[in-house]
Amino acid sequence: MNEIHSAGYRAHTNIALIKYWGKRNKELFLPVTSSLSLTLDAFYTDTHVEFDTSLTGDVFYLGGELQNEANTAKVSRFLDLFRETAGKPNLYAKVTSVNHVPTAAGLASSASAFAALAGACNLALDLQLDAQTLSTYARQGSGSASRSLLGGFVEWHKGEGDESASSYAEAFDDADWDLAMVFVIINRNAKKIDSRLGMEHTNQTSPFYALWPQEVEKDLAMIKPAIKAHDLDTVGQIAEHNAMKMHAMTIAAKPSFTYWEPASIEAMTIVRELREQGIPAYITMDAGPNVKVLCRASQAETIKAAFAPRFGADQVVIAKPGPAAHPLEKE
Ligand code: PMV
Repeated sequence: MNEIHSAGYRAHTNIALIKYWGKRNKELFLPVTSSLSLTLDAFYTDTHVEFDTSLTGDVFYLGGELQNEANTAKVSRFLDLFRETAGKPNLYAKVTSVNHVPTAAGLASSASAFAALAGACNLALDLQLDAQTLSTYARQGSGSASRSLLGGFVEWHKGEGDESASSYAEAFDDADWDLAMVFVIINRNAKKIDSRLGMEHTNQTSPFYALWPQEVEKDLAMIKPAIKAHDLDTVGQIAEHNAMKMHAMTIAAKPSFTYWEPASIEAMTIVRELREQGIPAYITMDAGPNVKVLCRASQAETIKAAFAPRFGADQVVIAKPGPAAHPLEKE
């Protein structure tokens, strides 16, 4: 008779205020620097995993669609980490994953996806790994996924040498204050230069990369007390500067590249105008053209309205701080 071990898990996406941009060990996804993020409520992934002794290979459904060999192989490699730990190398699984994003947002998130899958595997195989250890597994699906296991502000420690266990994520502080992030969705298409390729190219060819580790260290040291003090202006200024330094490095890469599109610059101009009117609003951007605006939750609607003349209502989404990843109720 076949044996089934199943579980469901939800993980929310996170946006880094101090970015992870570069690996020191590609196989283990060990980063060059530590990073710090905010977990958000608006975007999340629900994943069910069913380990089944009768299966002869892994099966992966995303958004109701059976995935191709390449996408399934990526999931299989990730499942291997858990099979190894459980001592069950031939126990295959059916993975069913759904990304929940507001209509038309189109922000597929590898961070919430691998965090949800890690949580589901841990539960299904009864491995009882704590969040910190689990984050070292999630990291090996996508670096930023390590941070999506926790809620509020989260720090991912870079760790030591080639020691996988030392590079984990940890809750830094709650975010239960007047805080939000407004997403300006510029482009729904998949990015041309994914984060793996982008960071590798920057690391290898941008002369400014040499400065990046020390800049991140300084930014982290400054942003932490500002977060504890609920000082939005200082947090925002440091986060914006950190993001700009990351994007400046890509422009100085050889050949040069950028994730910005003309509309990204328009959105950034609107943020600067808001600031000139005395509304605290700060920019961050990742490996894509979308602009994210850190602001007060109580002013998020005002900020959303400022984008209305240029962007459609479905292009602007308000997110609040989000919770840690957690099990889904059994149906
Ligand atoms: O984890 P990845 O491979 O999706 O890389 C994330 C890179 C950035 O989003 C640009 C920065 C970050 O720390 O999330």
